[in-house]
Amino acid sequence: MRISDPKIVARLAELHVELQPGAALAGLTSLGIGGTTDLLRIKNHEGIPDLLNLLDSNHIPHKFLGGGSNLLVGDGELPWVVLQLVCPEPDIVLEGNFAHVDAAADLGRTITFCAKNDLGGMEGLIGVPGTVGGALRMNAGAYGMQIGSYVREVKLHRAATRKIEILRGHQISFEYRHTSFAPDDMMLSVKLELPSKLFKDILQGIRICNEKRRSSQPLGQKSAGCIFKNPPGASAGRMIDDLGLKGLSVGDARVSDRHANFFVNAGRASARDMLALIADVSERVQKTYGVELENEVVVWNA
Ligand code: EPU
Repeated sequence: MRISDPKIVARLAELHVELQPGAALAGLTSLGIGGTTDLLRIKNHEGIPDLLNLLDSNHIPHKFLGGGSNLLVGDGELPWVVLQLVCPEPDIVLEGNFAHVDAAADLGRTITFCAKNDLGGMEGLIGVPGTVGGALRMNAGAYGMQIGSYVREVKLHRAATRKIEILRGHQISFEYRHTSFAPDDMMLSVKLELPSKLFKDILQGIRICNEKRRSSQPLGQKSAGCIFKNPPGASAGRMIDDLGLKGLSVGDARVSDRHANFFVNAGRASARDMLALIADVSERVQKTYGVELENEVVVWNA
């Protein structure tokens, strides 16, 4: 979708929003898949309510993009614009055991920055690509930990009230790859409380997690991490592997040879290819195990 009305373009500039016309979303997602649309880069949180009013009153649908690492975007010209926060400088401010982190901050950088300041707890998430806001929205977790355990406050733009609000940790529910945030709430920043730990001990934990991840996941390839959530008490990856589906392909969309719950873009896969592969694998799992797999990857299909 293109914004061409000069009045809207001028108002965007007033709101400190940078308009990038016809951005290729394939370049902004870890899967390397996605069509084109206008990208609106937000430099000032305070202007967000006015920005959303501007878009709504001009009937311009929108979606919020974080780091694009858990996302499958449709092909072609997309029927909505995309909003993304510009990462401020500095993006992390420490205060004792609290880390105030901008939602646009890179998750890996946040973990290592805190580690260098003797704050640990999030070692398991090292190697998970994306932003802190994205990790927060879906309660990213790995190796027995989840980010929600450390959240004390979240600043967000709430779709229900159309205002910027601060929620305390106890007002938010964090479950397995799920939170109580509404789909169109926009994460802006978070206050984490992290346990004190010596840098060398955190580093040891980071090394162990990195090693486990390297040996079991296709890190060098374009993917969105795990495609499906694990059903209660089971591993989607093991179920797909046991069906002999590693290597199954639709075009260049392919079930990873290394971890069967990672679907990789082995070349020039389209969203259509990837969605067909997802549908094929879930149908086979349903037939054999009677289990309906739920997507972990977020799908923005036109
Ligand atoms: N397994 C297989 N074949 C495979 C993949 C896994 O037999 O192709 C077996 C493994 O050998 C192991 C079991 O299945 O015995 C579980 O595998 P793994 O330890 O890799 O964990 P997972 O349940 O597949 C989850 C998360 C990952 C996270 C890892 C490590 C989900 C959907 N996946 O994977 O998160 O990195 O544990 O904690 O919850 C993600 O969220 O995108 C993600 C990749």
